[in-house]
Formats: sequence, structure tokens, C-alpha cells
Amino acid sequence: MCGIVGYIGTRKAQDVLVNSLKRLEYRGYDSAGIATLDDENNPHLARSVGKIVELEHVLEPKPHTGHLGIGHTRWATHGGVTVNNAHPHNAGNVFLVHNGIIENYKELKAELKAYDFKSDTDTEVLAALIDSFYKDGTPLKDAVASALKKVRGTYGIAVFSPLEPGQIIVARLGSPLIIGLGDGEVIIASDASALLGYTREAIYLNDGELAVCTNKGAEVFNLNLKHINHTAETIEGDVDQIQKGGYDHFLLKEIMEQATTLHNTLSGRIDPKNGTMHLGGPNLTAKEIADIRHVVIVGCGTAYYAGLLASYYMEQLVPDLTTEVVIASEYRYRSFHLPKNSVALIVSQSGETADTLACLREIKKRGVKTLGIVNVVGSTIAREVDGGTYVHAGPEISVASTKAFTAQVVTMLMFAGMLAESHGGNPQLIHEFTNELAILPEEIEKTLKTHQETMHELAKKYAGFNDALYLGRDTAYPIALEGALKLKEVSYVHAEGYASGELKHGPIALVDETFFEVFNILDNWLFDKSIGGLHEVRARGGKAIVLTDSQREIDADDVIRINSPIKHLAPILLNTLQQLFAYYVAVEKGNDVDQPRNLAKSVTVE
Ligand code: M6R
Repeated sequence: MCGIVGYIGTRKAQDVLVNSLKRLEYRGYDSAGIATLDDENNPHLARSVGKIVELEHVLEPKPHTGHLGIGHTRWATHGGVTVNNAHPHNAGNVFLVHNGIIENYKELKAELKAYDFKSDTDTEVLAALIDSFYKDGTPLKDAVASALKKVRGTYGIAVFSPLEPGQIIVARLGSPLIIGLGDGEVIIASDASALLGYTREAIYLNDGELAVCTNKGAEVFNLNLKHINHTAETIEGDVDQIQKGGYDHFLLKEIMEQATTLHNTLSGRIDPKNGTMHLGGPNLTAKEIADIRHVVIVGCGTAYYAGLLASYYMEQLVPDLTTEVVIASEYRYRSFHLPKNSVALIVSQSGETADTLACLREIKKRGVKTLGIVNVVGSTIAREVDGGTYVHAGPEISVASTKAFTAQVVTMLMFAGMLAESHGGNPQLIHEFTNELAILPEEIEKTLKTHQETMHELAKKYAGFNDALYLGRDTAYPIALEGALKLKEVSYVHAEGYASGELKHGPIALVDETFFEVFNILDNWLFDKSIGGLHEVRARGGKAIVLTDSQREIDADDVIRINSPIKHLAPILLNTLQQLFAYYVAVEKGNDVDQPRNLAKSVTVE
């Protein structure tokens, strides 16, 4: 969602801000802007609706020349998508960019009668509130702290004033803020990817902290202005990882690089020779692992579906374990009870999803141990869980999640393997899973290469349809859900995922020649039942695509077969075909593949 950047140093601020905003484009936004101070300390503001390129057009005739500034990509929450509602906002001597939501902005606005508000945003109210404290020689830092004490809600902010040039004040509560420390310069961002290429040293601000940034570094305080010592951390990743690397879209790059990223996910965590799996991050003692009886897996969207697939594997591997998979936006408000010896897996690519974070906090209140299954290093969820493990998928830029899904499933599977060993799971089965994990990267590579063109052709054939059903049984069921989500997100084709066995309980009423169905069929003990569902659909005129690991005869409009020694993990391979299919349908339809309409990469508001 919204992104914040800021810069003080010797470079032209406009260049750094615009470049860094481009790095944040993937998060989803509808307008953008920058505010800078020139070398005579005059402020300049430029804002536009639409993509960053529109902002560049606004800047073209009158480039900003200064060396300090703040910038923002906005994803509308309060007020429509207009230039006036875009950030930065200005009130009196205060220029401000803000991520998050000020819940009591209406009450505050009513009190700030001296200000002539030009936007419908909560952010302009916060700018005015800070300005109302910024009087009679009060330092900007103090004014910001006083204002923030009156605010209810969440924020990541960056503020400057022409009255105190040479500094940017930043603060956070529930919305990330990272201060990159360069040589004679400071780069501020809400997402570490905006800092790559400038610096690797960064301070990750904690909730309730405020920092004064100058070109020499940053000093951190709490809202009572008590000094806080912070050590800088090293940012992972490099610029190559956040570039398209020759692909037309990040989505295709991220699908195709899954073999490589999976090597990172697996590295040092499996031992195929002995048939064992081990994750270091959870920080659980042998006794704690042995005592676990209940695992609740929490996530949203694709992370939820990854959890669902992992839960099937956990049940197969760990004999005395109950698993429960929950949607974070629901669970956070339920009166849930967790039994003794529960552990919660908090699954999130971004590590910033508001609903998932809220669940994490609810679960912690109940005294249950939380473990993060997170991709973004240093993200809020990763910092707040009791333990956990990074999935190491690398930066995922495309809004539609692909490689993170695969990495999440595999990481949770390794967690399951670890539990299985301690809980008397079947050693042969654990060994089989470990062996499959060891060859999974190369099998993914093979599947993608073999079928890329086929999936492209298939997408051309079906791109004209408006409705689709995705079906699967057992471990193919979660990937049917994921396949439907992927298609609707990027192609805007209406798609529903169902358990094949549910067809007769309602959805079959939809089936006619205007629908197509994607059947994920595994060559296992449920094969005949899956084929039964396929026949029912075909008998009603539905077009059927079958994705399968089976070499048995199957009668369908299109049958795509993977040929792999992998059995347990075949759903992961079939899912990569679905990813390619969704990608190519979106391309055929001429959609904005990496930033689909109405979506944000990281959903930091409810
Ligand atoms: O960053 P998270 O994994 O917590 O995000 C959860 C969902 O918002 C995310 O998976 C979403 O469903 C994706 N757009 C799916 O492609």
C-alpha cells in the first residue's frame, strides 16, 4: 500500500526520491508526490494522480534542485484519488507524508479551526496538528511528539519544515519506517527495497519511536523525547533482485525463478541422506517441540492457502497433532480459545499485513507461542513473533504472490518434518518427503520450462471466457483455491476455487459452455473420484482443463501432464502451471500484470 521515502545528503533529492518511489510502485498506489527544500530553504511541492511517470511529467518543466525532501505513493483510504488528496501535505510550516490511518482525525479537524483544509485526508489534519504545536520556537521534533500523543490510529510519517532545514523527523506506530544510513546522507523508506543500492546499514524504527534524521545520521527518541539507543542492522538483498532481469514482468520473473529461490529456502535445512528436516529459527527446545499438540496457522489470501496445503502435510506426517488454518481477518475478531501446548504459525510474505499482525497480537495475549513464516526480513511480524523462520524467497515485487507461496509451503513442511521426527512420525514417510524436497527445485525448473509455451497457448484459448471454476481434492484442493485467486487477481476473470467433492452441493448449477473448469487431479487413491467430477462437468457442456501428474487416460478438452518422480509435492508443481496460466491470460488481456487494479502488495490497513 502507501509508500514513504525521504532523503537528506549531497545528491539531488528529486532523483533519489523519484527513483525510490519507483522501487515502491509494486506495493500498489494511485497517486504520488514529493516535497523538497531548495538550497535557499524554499519548499517545493509536486503531486500527481496515476503512475510515477505522471509525477515525472509534472516535474519536467520545473525540476526540484534541493538536497532534502520527502515523497509518497498513496493508496486512497480517506478521500478520492485526486491531486489535492495526494501526499505530501502542507499545513503552515509543516510538510508531511503519512502511511496508516488517523482514526480520530474528524475530532482533531474540528479543533483545528485556524486551518483551511484543502483535502479530504486524515493526513492533512495530522500536518495541521503538528503545525499547531510548532509555535514560539518549539523544535519540530517536540511538535511532532506532542501531536502524535493526541493521535489515535496508525502511522509511519516523515516531516520537514523550511524553518529547520537540514532535518527530517520520522516516526512510526504500526506502519514500518526504516532509516538508511549512508556516507554523508540518510535515505528514509517504508520498505527496505527502496534503500537498496544506496546503503546496506539501516535502523528499523520500533512502534512509538521518533527519529531526527540529518545528513550525519539519526537520533532516536520515544514520544517523551527520551533518547533511545539503536544499533544499525544490515539490509539483505541487492538491486538485481528487484529488477526484471530481462523478463517482461516481475510476475513472470518470480514464477520462473522459483527453483533458485527454493534452493535458498531449503539451504541447510534438509538432510536427504538421513531423511531429516531441521529449522533453526523457531527457537524451540526438544521438549517444547515434543509437547506441541495443536498448530494454528494464520494468514490472508495466498498465505492462507499456503497454510492450508501445509496443514494437509502436517496431518500426514505428525501422528498426534491437530491443525487448524484460519483467515486472519476473521480470526482476529473471533472469541477463539487455543488449547494448552498450541503453537501459532503466522504466515506472511510482507510481514506487514494488518489483519495477520492483529491476529499475532491476539494470540500472544492468550499466552500462546507464535512463530513467523515470513519473507521480508525485519518486517513487523518478523519482529513481533516469539520465534520463526524466514522463507528466503527474496523480494517479491509483483502484487500476485507466487514464489512466496511455494517457499511458505515448503518452510511449513520442514516445520512439520521436524515435529514428525519428535512425535514418532513414520520415518519412511519423513524420508520420502525429505527426498522430494531435495529434488523439488529441479522438478519445478523442469515443469516450468517444459510447459511454459503450452500454458501460453492454453491462455490464448481461454482468455475470452469470463468465468472459471478451479477444482481439486485433498492436497490439490488448496491449490485449486490458490489457482482461482491468481487468475482473478491478474486477469480479472471471475474464478472460484472449490473442493471437487463440493461440486454437487451447489457450484455445478453454474456449469455450461460459457464456463471453463480447471481440474487439478493427482494420481493417488482419489483419482477415480476426481475423474467422476470431471465427467459431471463435461456432461453439462463445461470446458475442462486438467492439470495432472497422472499418465492414465483422461478425457478432457485439454490435459497438461507433468512427468516427475515427485508424488507428495505434486500439487506444488501443478500450482506452477496455474501461475503461468494466470500470467498469460493477464498478458493476453493487456492488463497491468504486476500491479493489478485495486490491489496492493502489502495490505497494511483493515
Ligand atoms: O504479505 P502477506 O503474505 O501477508 O499477504 C497476504 C495477502 O494479502 C496476499 O497473499 C494476497 O492475497 C496476494 N495478492 C495474493 O497473490
